[in-house]
Amino acid sequence: MLRHLCCFSASLLLVSAQIGGGARPVTGPPGRPGIGTPQPNGWGTYTPATFPNSLTDFTACQMPGESLMCDPNAILTDGDLTANHAMLDHVLDSIRSSTQCACTSEDENFGQCEGEGGFTVSLALVDKIELDANQDNKVDRMQAASKFANNLRVLQDHGQCDDDVTIFLSRKDDVMWTATGKVAERYLTPELINAITLNAENYFVKGEYTNGLNYTLTKYGQILRGEQVDLTPPGGWYWPFPLWAVIVIGIVCTLVAIALIGLAVWGCTRCCCADKAEYTMGTRM
Ligand SMILES: *[C@@H]1O[C@H](CO)[C@@H](O)[C@H](O)[C@H]1NC(C)=O
Repeated sequence: MLRHLCCFSASLLLVSAQIGGGARPVTGPPGRPGIGTPQPNGWGTYTPATFPNSLTDFTACQMPGESLMCDPNAILTDGDLTANHAMLDHVLDSIRSSTQCACTSEDENFGQCEGEGGFTVSLALVDKIELDANQDNKVDRMQAASKFANNLRVLQDHGQCDDDVTIFLSRKDDVMWTATGKVAERYLTPELINAITLNAENYFVKGEYTNGLNYTLTKYGQILRGEQVDLTPPGGWYWPFPLWAVIVIGIVCTLVAIALIGLAVWGCTRCCCADKAEYTMGTRM
């Protein structure tokens, strides 16, 4: 029993460490994949270039119509897939419609405000990035996710003037990465992304991918609207032990403490009594 508990906790801690890492977006312009640029890793089913564009190829994205989310491997099966898609699709739409276009004259090289709506946040989900067996560690997975997110954002170009954000999540790699355009990054900074990604991990370690993504999008939306954002971890800190284990550990610690206090008291009385005995003997002589 104890052995199983240890293994369970260790694997959960490992998972949480892996998810937590994929937060910081790469700064500087991402390299375009393709001609002349060797792929750093095998990408599995999709490369950034072959990943379907949810605005045009929504069927491949498992969506009923034009959308900002793409889940070609149908990974959001925590609950009802269609309902999860509809919920997140709605949150993505509302971010675009409730924010202002932030392009300024300085950003003209990237484009300009095109119509209604502000920041565009897109969601790209895959089951697994295929990496070479000798390159499949935590750092490699994070780097691969970062490259995928950055390349996909540039290739699909869902924004108006580099004011777009692409969130990439690979379920089996336990990594989520947020890529931001230059204009979006003025609001959604790497520090904020990092804090929110770490908080979302509280959901991911429990397999609640839809809730974790909803949490992430809700927070990004608040930041992009210029609202106050509460970054306290949702539902308290994640505690990888069941309640009964906490109680047993508590009882054992209390018993050990009582035993130590008892030992100390016993030791003291023994010293005092011995002194007293000697003293008594001394006076009697
Ligand atoms: C989405 O997340 C927000 C913030 O964490 C929460 O208030 C809301 O109830 C969530 N929506 C759903 C459908 O879970």
